[in-house]
Formats: sequence, C-alpha cells, structure tokens
Amino acid sequence: MRAIAPAAGSTIAIDCRLDGSAGSGLAEDVLDGLTRPFKELPPKHLYDERGCELFDQICELPEYYPTRTERGILERDAERIVAGSQAAELVELGSGTAAKTRVLLDAMADAGLLRRYVPFDVAESVVRDSAEVLAGAYPGLEVHGVVGDFERHLDRIPAPQAHGAQPRIVALLGGTIGNFPPGSRRRLLRQIGALLGPDDALLLGTDLVKDPAVIEAAYDDAAGVTAAFNLNLLRVVNRELDADFPLEGFAHVAFFDRRNEWIEMRLRALRPCSVLVRALDLRVEFAAGEELRTEISAKFTRARIAADYAAAGLTLAGWHSDAEGRYALSLARPSGGS
Ligand code: SAH
Ligand code: TRP
Repeated sequence: MRAIAPAAGSTIAIDCRLDGSAGSGLAEDVLDGLTRPFKELPPKHLYDERGCELFDQICELPEYYPTRTERGILERDAERIVAGSQAAELVELGSGTAAKTRVLLDAMADAGLLRRYVPFDVAESVVRDSAEVLAGAYPGLEVHGVVGDFERHLDRIPAPQAHGAQPRIVALLGGTIGNFPPGSRRRLLRQIGALLGPDDALLLGTDLVKDPAVIEAAYDDAAGVTAAFNLNLLRVVNRELDADFPLEGFAHVAFFDRRNEWIEMRLRALRPCSVLVRALDLRVEFAAGEELRTEISAKFTRARIAADYAAAGLTLAGWHSDAEGRYALSLARPSGGS
C-alpha cells in the first residue's frame, strides 16, 4: 500500500468494527434472503474492494447523473452550507472514496473551522485510503475513521469535540438513503437524528423523481459497468461463503417502479440454476427467469423528504437543488421540544 505522510499536525485513527463476512452479516443475509419465495440481498454487500472500484467507475459514466449533479450543487453552495452551520467537524456515513467530500472540507477549511473528519463505511479499504489521502491534504485535520455498518454501529462515532461546543455536520450523500425502503429509511434517519445536538445538522443527498427513461439509463449504462457492479455481488458470495454461482448464468436488470417511485436492480437467472452455498450447507434453486433483488434506489420529492424527516423527529432546514431539479441536498435539524 502506498504511504502518504499526514500533513503537519494531522492525525489518523481507524476503528474497525467488522471482521470479514461475519462482521458484515453476509451469512445471515444470504440465509435469510435466498430462502424466501422472492429472493433478495441487501445492497451493502455490493461494496467489496472491487465493488467500490466499479462504483467509482459508475460515478464517471455519462448516464449516471447523480454524482455529477450532487458535486455541482456542493461546488455552488458549500460555502453557504458551512457558513450556516459553523461546523468544525464532518461525520460522513457511507463515505466511499470521499471524492465530493473535499468540496465540503475545503469550504470548512476556508472558513477556518475544520478540525475533524469522521469517514464511516462498511468497506475497510476505502476508509483507510481516504483517511490517508485526506490527512495528507489538510494540515491539522484529525481523521477518525470507522469501519462498520451504519445500521448497527453508529454508537462507534466519536463524541463531539470540545463537549459539543463546536457544531458538526453528519452527511449521507450519493443518494444512499434511497437504498432503504421507507420503514428502515425512517428508522435510520431517527438513529442519525439521535447523534445530532441542537446546533448540529444532517446533510442528506437525494435523487429526485424525474422521467423514468433518464433514471433507467443511469442504472443500466451502455458500457455495462453497472451490470458488472451488480454481478459482483455473486462473486462476493462465491468468495466469502464458498458458493458456486455461475456468473454467466445471470443478467443485470434495472427498472423504475412507478408506484413506489424507486428503481430496482435485480439479477435474473438466464436458465434453471442450482447453487450450493457450502459455508452454510445451503442449496438454492433458481428457475429460468427468476430474479434476485439486489437494490432499490428511491427517488424523492421535497414533500416526501420533509415527511420522512418529520417522522424521524427532524425538521427540514435547508434545500439546495440544481436548476433542472434532478437532485437535492437538504439540511435537517432536530425538531426539539420532545
Ligand atoms: N458517498 C459516496 C459513496 C456512495 S456509494 C458518494 O456519494 O459517491 C454507498 C457507500 O455506502 C459505499 O461506499 C458503501 O460501502 C457504503 N455503505 C452501504 N451500506 C452501508 C452500511 N450499511 N454501513 C456502512 N456503509 C455502507
Ligand atoms: N447509492 C447508489 C444509487 O442508488 C448506488 C448505485 C448506483 C447502485 N448504481 C447502482 C447500486 C447500480 C446497484 C446497482 O444511485
């Protein structure tokens, strides 16, 4: 691994909550998700090292507009967001390679506020790499990475600095909140809300409802990168649980569900297929054409975001959208009084 020296006065600490497939819950999720009539696996298992690399390639695709649009909004409004929050600390859930994060960190540094960055992700390699890169780029920055599952390990986030005297922003970017169905989405928002002091804010990136053709192209690109990303899930199961999914026996499927206003990613068996998951002593049968759901990605309206916040004890406190209304960054604060 390349070694980047931290800049003057910067420090790095990494807290690792996960321990391979056992830690991420893959075995339970496979047992639970592949023995149902409608097969399903949670999306967090898409992000092993190769999955993170493929996701980075997705972010560069001409069809995948969310990353580019979110970055544009940040470049336009980061200064205003930072001025309004006075945050010295950024906690980022599902931080990935933290590429767009630098726009926020730059604005915090320019305002003379930046003290600490807390990247939090299930993928250990991206937490370690981004911690190194960012500690090298910002003198005096304290990077405290957490490798964990943000549905289970939010308690590992370090306490606010200076006993909460300096506000912090908790960010969840990239539309990741849309990967949760409505009930677990609100539960996660409530858990994140519990991290916020009265002066802290949640910064949430959400893709917005639009022409289904635009959305479907973003999740089924011409170059086939998204297909490779989706199929990588089967590689992860084969490797971690000694299974024998034939990768060429499955095809990537993406379609917009208008009733639910979310896009679904599935893997469709092209022929009857009998898979052995040796580590679980489990045999799984797929009929020809049968589908395994690997992710949903919900598309939002401002009203739905406000309602989700309210149900989670939060109040919509800021709205930053691009001129075409494709994507939104919103700010939320604890509702208080309860
Ligand atoms: N924030 C980045 C990456 C988004 S991709 C961006 O906006 O481009 C989603 C990221 O969330 C991945 O890095 C993935 O590893 C992480 N992730 C997904 N589910 C997670 C979970 N349950 N706990 C922690 N991290 C998770
Ligand atoms: N959080 C991203 C999104 O919902 C993840 C993602 C993008 C994704 N493309 C994908 C997940 C394709 C599975 C397959 O936009």
